[in-house]
Amino acid sequence: MDCFRTRSLNTSCMLFSLIILFSMVSLWKLAEGWSYHHSDHRMTWSKAESWCKQYYTNMVAIQNHDEIEHLNSILPKKHGHYWIGIRKVNGTWVWVGTGKPLTADAENWADEEPNNRGIGQDCVEIYIKRKTDAGKWNDDFCTNQKTALCYTASCTADSCGQHGECVEIIDSHKCECFEGFYGAKCEHVIQCPAKEVSSPLNGIVHCSHSNGRFAYASHCQYSCSEGYQISGSQTTRCEASKTWSNEPPTCEVVQCSKMSPPAQGTMQCEDPLGHFSYRSACGFTCEEGYTLTGSGQLVCGATGHWNDSVPTCEAVRCPSLEEFVHGTVSCSGDSISFGSTCSFKCDDGFRLQGAPEITCTESAQWSQKMPYCEAVMCPHLLEPVNGFISCSSEKATVGTVCSFDCLDGYNLHGSKMVMCNLNGNWSGEEAECQAVHCPPLEEFVHGTVSCSGDSISFGSTCSFSCEDGFRLKGAPEITCTESAQWSQKMPYCEAVMCPHLLEPVNGFISCSSEKATVGTVCSFDCLDGYHLHGSKMVMCSLNGNWSGEETECKAVHCPSLEEFEHGTVSCSGDIISFGSTCSFSCNDGFRLQGAPEITCTESAQWSQKMPYCEVIRCRLPGEQIHLSSECSRSSDDLTVNSTCHFSCETGFDLQGAVSTECTETGEWSSALPHCTAVMCPHLQEPVNGFISCSSEKATVGTVCSFDCLDGYHLHGYEMVMCNLNGNWSGEEAECQAPSLSRPLMAGLSLGAGATALSFIGLALWVMKRLRQKAKRFNLSNSDINVPHQTYKSSTDSLI
Ligand SMILES: *[C@@H]1O[C@H](CO)[C@@H](O)[C@H](O)[C@H]1NC(C)=O
Repeated sequence: MDCFRTRSLNTSCMLFSLIILFSMVSLWKLAEGWSYHHSDHRMTWSKAESWCKQYYTNMVAIQNHDEIEHLNSILPKKHGHYWIGIRKVNGTWVWVGTGKPLTADAENWADEEPNNRGIGQDCVEIYIKRKTDAGKWNDDFCTNQKTALCYTASCTADSCGQHGECVEIIDSHKCECFEGFYGAKCEHVIQCPAKEVSSPLNGIVHCSHSNGRFAYASHCQYSCSEGYQISGSQTTRCEASKTWSNEPPTCEVVQCSKMSPPAQGTMQCEDPLGHFSYRSACGFTCEEGYTLTGSGQLVCGATGHWNDSVPTCEAVRCPSLEEFVHGTVSCSGDSISFGSTCSFKCDDGFRLQGAPEITCTESAQWSQKMPYCEAVMCPHLLEPVNGFISCSSEKATVGTVCSFDCLDGYNLHGSKMVMCNLNGNWSGEEAECQAVHCPPLEEFVHGTVSCSGDSISFGSTCSFSCEDGFRLKGAPEITCTESAQWSQKMPYCEAVMCPHLLEPVNGFISCSSEKATVGTVCSFDCLDGYHLHGSKMVMCSLNGNWSGEETECKAVHCPSLEEFEHGTVSCSGDIISFGSTCSFSCNDGFRLQGAPEITCTESAQWSQKMPYCEVIRCRLPGEQIHLSSECSRSSDDLTVNSTCHFSCETGFDLQGAVSTECTETGEWSSALPHCTAVMCPHLQEPVNGFISCSSEKATVGTVCSFDCLDGYHLHGYEMVMCNLNGNWSGEEAECQAPSLSRPLMAGLSLGAGATALSFIGLALWVMKRLRQKAKRFNLSNSDINVPHQTYKSSTDSLI
């Protein structure tokens, strides 16, 4: 058989079909060359395909004209021709070996074929040794019986290893090596220099070797440490030319963008690896009045980016301004940041209150309070007196117009209309409504005028009043009328006069002024013997009347005398008129008490009180000790000629007259007597003894006792008593040297039982006893004295 030239014609197609065939390994015999085979009997297309696959490689797949010629020459002519490996699938002609559609340039159809005569002509036959169209294709029914045409391949699966292709040649094959490989079975691989691949500074290289270390197709990948980036090729490959595809790269430090400090700020950087490079750190600060917004520090990251954008220095912001009403605000800058200045202006008609300009300070506060606009106001206008005002606005704001008008009869003086100016003043003059003037008043004598208003204008009212002492004549009040005339005549003041005074009968008058004008004083007087009745002095008062009562001169009369008892009265004249004198005298036995003569004085009073006659009586002194009296009349009615007799108590002697008579003078005819006590003679103290008495004076009843010094005996009475006749009851005692016995006590002439007592109680007892005895002896009580002295003698012997 002739060699196949197929490869040179269409290598790729052939190759592809062969490779597919190699995968169907099992039935192929080693070293067997490429060859064609056909069946001895006919079969359907499908059976033919199965048969070829069973005994050979597959059905023939016609690729080119050379192969067709070759087949036409070597195959015998068969009835019904040969099936080949082309078939219609879903309307398209397909190589069944590869499953690929038939391309136009590979088509080899006979004339007018494929004619698609009838449904089912889906399989292809090849004409071999036909008179016409030998080697060409025809479509036919797959179920027709035809001879199967098969082929067998020479190459096996491992003919050329993994790195080459097996190429069929007549009865043999050869290896064609893939790039990078060489050798009979492509068993060798091309090597590249290993030392040309190494890790760069700050980086590493990593290689993968598919065909052996640093051999053909070894692939190396370079990478840099964090913060570094590759400069050059990132990869390299071992080429078939035994060289590396790229030079090794370098690792350069990552650069961040250049930064500049923010406006109103500063920046300071630290660059450990390079200016604005990986790991560079920059800090930012702001000037006063600005605050940093953003990160205060930026760091350059491994990716070449700062971890934040450059911060900004934002001016400090003051609080936003409130609405500024009625004016305009104009601010520098952004209005409310540090350094911004806002100035304020008010609209016309408004006035600025507060600072005209404020500035935002670094402390975020405005330098001053925000001002405000105050409406300019004109002062309040008063309605003119007797006129009225009418304004365009209630409030006197700028532009307000006010007009004035006057009541009938009044004239407007000043501006009829005014307007409130921008500066807060009214234009023009204030209006006044002036009344028509009445003629000025004449002088008003002796009085005062009081006028309303300006005295002489319409409506002015003048009232008049007079001084004291004057009376108003005419209208008390007049008014200036619209017709410029006073409503009435002006009044006048007339002096007030009191009525003429008459001189009183028996008297006279004297006045301070001849005319009886107000204030005139008149005094009255009466002749002697006449008494003034009524006011002594009168004055002309404001109302023209005299003050006081009417005056009269009446003759003086004293009050008539009372009855004069026990005497006689004798008066001069008519007894009770001024100057009359009355004298008084009393009857016998009576005495005149008071003035003996009284006179009726000018004041109608008697000069003295009227006297009276008192009965004459004599007087006895109050009770006298020891003296008793016995009179002819009771002791308080001892009138003239009354007599009294006197006597003394026992133990007393009467001294003077025993009786007396009351005389005309009220004196007794003789001096009154008195009583003197009867006294015993003085007792001598005994020699060598002593005496002790109940009374110092030796009056009747006095008891004296004697006592002797030790060693002496009393001789005589131990006790003696003063008798009514002024004698001691016994003799005086003597103190003698011890001798004969003697009587203990002198016998009392009054009787026995005299006692000596040491205290008052006993003395009383003694007295009682003494009185009892005295009674027996007819003695009066007064003859016995109470003993006042302590008796020294022993009492037991006495009782
Ligand atoms: C950037 O890095 C610095 C230093 O680490 C840090 O202080 C700063 O807060 C960072 N900024 C941001 C936005 O993360």
